[in-house]
Amino acid sequence: MLKLESVHTSYGRIEAIKGISLEISRGEIVCLIGSNGAGKSTTLMTISKILTPSRGSVIFEGNDIKELPPHKIVSIGISQVPEGRRIFPKLTVGENLEMGEYLAVSGQRSAVSRRGEAVPRPKDNQLEHVFNLFPILKERQKQMGGTLSGGEQQMLAIGRALMSKPKLLLLDEPSLGLAPIIVSKIFKTIRELNAEGLTILLVEQNAKAALRLAHRGYVMESGRITKEGKGRDLLDDPDIKKAYLGE
Ligand SMILES: Nc1ncnc2c1ncn2[C@@H]1O[C@H](COP(=O)(O)OP(=O)(O)OP(=O)(O)O)[C@@H](O)[C@H]1O
Ligand SMILES: [Mg+2]
Repeated sequence: MLKLESVHTSYGRIEAIKGISLEISRGEIVCLIGSNGAGKSTTLMTISKILTPSRGSVIFEGNDIKELPPHKIVSIGISQVPEGRRIFPKLTVGENLEMGEYLAVSGQRSAVSRRGEAVPRPKDNQLEHVFNLFPILKERQKQMGGTLSGGEQQMLAIGRALMSKPKLLLLDEPSLGLAPIIVSKIFKTIRELNAEGLTILLVEQNAKAALRLAHRGYVMESGRITKEGKGRDLLDDPDIKKAYLGE
């Protein structure tokens, strides 16, 4: 479904990713682990085109998406949950969710037909789906996003990303700073979404939980991929145990 080939991405003169190649098949959960500053978020932002790679190719469903603008990325089926959630604190929970849908619709040229009539939005039942996953969001629908707890904000960020009905969901550190019980809930939801057919690329500091959940994983160090393998095999790898699992 997604293939990165020798991708380089820089911030000005600092090259943060230095020729990475990775692949995600439809239906997989793939995790990306690595220390602070390894380039994990940069990789996700390169896929969602918030950043443009200087070299290499990013192929999604057979097409090179290197030149597409970010709003088109949403409409072709890639949605990102950014690090630190980035919900809109001054908008209500309901409005935050609408923004996720708006991003998808605005990227579709067909949102209004040539004759000027509104085309029915395909995403209407998606709100229902998000409320089923996270009933708390339905209860808090009218509340400002900024008044939610950290865990609720993470659920909102995931819900917002799901509003565009993505095929590929990019999750950047969804467990960061959350209580263990909320982390379990988030991981359970990731598993459920995957069971429904959503393909997931997960970036996590919580390497143990991520490798347990993922079918496959990649390890990043200083802008390069240094290891890849099945989640189980990486969990048993002595180097990974020492560096990332605290064993
Ligand atoms: N806006 C920026 N300008 C300059 N350098 C940046 C910028 N954002 C990130 N970097 C640098 O790029 C490298 C990769 O950063 P990135 O955020 O991708 O790492 P990460 O693996 O997501 O780390 P973390 O686990 O801390 O989130 C780091 O050396 C970082 O300092
Ligand atoms: Mg990061």
